[in-house]
Amino acid sequence: MKLLRTGVDDLPALQSCFFASVSVLAAKDYTPEQRRAWVSRALDNANTWRDKLVSQFGWKAVENEEVQGFILLVPQDNLIDWLYVSPAAANNGVATNLLRELERTARTLGIPHLETHASVTAQPFFERRGYEVVEKEEIEAGNCVLPRALMRKKL
Ligand SMILES: CC(C)(COP(=O)(O)OP(=O)(O)OC[C@H]1O[C@@H](n2cnc3c(N)ncnc32)[C@H](O)[C@@H]1OP(=O)(O)O)[C@@H](O)C(=O)NCCC(=O)NCCS
Repeated sequence: MKLLRTGVDDLPALQSCFFASVSVLAAKDYTPEQRRAWVSRALDNANTWRDKLVSQFGWKAVENEEVQGFILLVPQDNLIDWLYVSPAAANNGVATNLLRELERTARTLGIPHLETHASVTAQPFFERRGYEVVEKEEIEAGNCVLPRALMRKKL
């Protein structure tokens, strides 16, 4: 597995990985309606994805030219904005490697702490890597409410 910086050309592959990740890996924690609302909320605005890929720090994990997962750092907000792994690559250390690379860069940039709005699915993953729940959150998407949690780690 290689870790590479993301660019705007990656948009279709990242969105396809995102779609599969939410559809399959989040299925144990979110209903089909919630997952549909999550996907549409995120995919409805392709320009936001493009802007983030241009202006922020993204990495993708690639194996045999396939995107296995990706992560995004928004330095000005001390924020991990995206972390999605494709179902075929889950539980192989892909997210662990992506997060390690992001944290290394964040330390280099002098970022004091990192935050993320973690899905129910991702919370145990982040907890085991030193992130603590600051507060439980609920966001509205379509006709659904999606539970998640603001988590933080001091670097
Ligand atoms: C949460 C999520 C990102 C985790 O991705 P992942 O690549 O499966 O995570 P990892 O493989 O790095 O770690 C998971 C487990 O795999 C196992 N593992 C297997 N090989 C490993 C390796 N070489 N290195 C580290 N862990 C490994 C570990 O047991 C680890 O469990 P732990 O957390 O107890 O250490 C993924 O499930 C996902 O995309 N979920 C759906 C979308 C989502 O909710 N995203 C977050 C939005 S905030």
